[in-house]
Amino acid sequence: EKDGHDWFMRKEIFEQPSAVANSLLGRRNASGRLQLDEVRLSDEELRDIDKVIVIACGTSFYAGMVAKYAIEHWCRIPVEVELASEFRYRDPILTRETLVVAISQSGETADTLQAIRHARTQRSKVLAICNSNGSTIPRESDAVIYTHAGPEIGVASTKGFLTQLVACYLLGLYLAQVKGTRYNDEIALVMDQLEQMPAHIETVLGQSERVYELAREFVGTPSVLFLGRHAGYPVALEGALKLKELAYIHAEGFAAGELKHGPIALVDDGLPIWCVVPPRGRDQLHEKMISGIQEVRARGARTICLAEEGDTAIEPYADELIRLPKVPVLLQPLVSAVPLQLFACELATLMGHDVDMPRNLAKSVTVE
Ligand code: F6R
Repeated sequence: EKDGHDWFMRKEIFEQPSAVANSLLGRRNASGRLQLDEVRLSDEELRDIDKVIVIACGTSFYAGMVAKYAIEHWCRIPVEVELASEFRYRDPILTRETLVVAISQSGETADTLQAIRHARTQRSKVLAICNSNGSTIPRESDAVIYTHAGPEIGVASTKGFLTQLVACYLLGLYLAQVKGTRYNDEIALVMDQLEQMPAHIETVLGQSERVYELAREFVGTPSVLFLGRHAGYPVALEGALKLKELAYIHAEGFAAGELKHGPIALVDDGLPIWCVVPPRGRDQLHEKMISGIQEVRARGARTICLAEEGDTAIEPYADELIRLPKVPVLLQPLVSAVPLQLFACELATLMGHDVDMPRNLAKSVTVE
């Protein structure tokens, strides 16, 4: 049942190329336009949307953070991302033109469910991004995008997360198509890039031995930090969450630009820091990330960099270097999250923990 793997989690990590491929299946019609059959909202209704609020918990919340970068960029509508458990209690401003997007792998998370119930009483439209067919959250939503990852058994979300990212990209591109904020050619190009992701994820999985080696080196470390920028920031948060929940060690993710505002005080000799390096581009992201990495390295950190193929500028600052396929920055989480999942899984295994059933955690959190 675990396909020769020791844990469901490891099996599910290695299933990600096919999970992502399934998630993308049948999303384009014969003329190449995006079609999301399960989105039962008319083009009229979608055109009227003037604000998106994404609500979710845990790993699904990090997928929502990536969605904000993508949807704002492609659709030019403001996107807020909020923890479901906070959303209801702050008297959020919701109208009929607000699209509330609830992201939940299980479809049963109580906080997320209560949040969408609240949104519906305010007459906002609710779209669920969900992996579990027929679960409560999609049943209580106006529309749904199923992620089609197949059942996720390990408590820590892996293929659930990657396919949530895919669903968020699809939603962003679909809204852009309906609202006409992007040309069809451009949407088709991103779809082509998404369709290459299963192969890219496979390439990253091909380096698992290298990541396991690093896990062996870091057994016994009391703390690990993760740095990212832009779409790499939620990935840093996700890497830290995985390590906390599986290895029970202190782990924190930061936006690299925030370091100087406090967290850099944590950096000490030998502290391992994973750095999710953005692709080189016209923006300044890559350069800014490198300067952040220089800062922590100057203070004794041991940097483990995830950087795209061909990025030689990073080499002098990377104590360890894992290569990622060259992909656009918005899509990079689909490849950069994978080594962090492998690292947490392996480190927890080496520490003798039950990776599929971490202490104090349940697969679906049905209490508020
Ligand atoms: C982390 C993890 C949790 C869930 C969170 C939301 O690995 O699995 O943080 O992401 O409990 O669960 P869903 O997506 O089922 O609502």
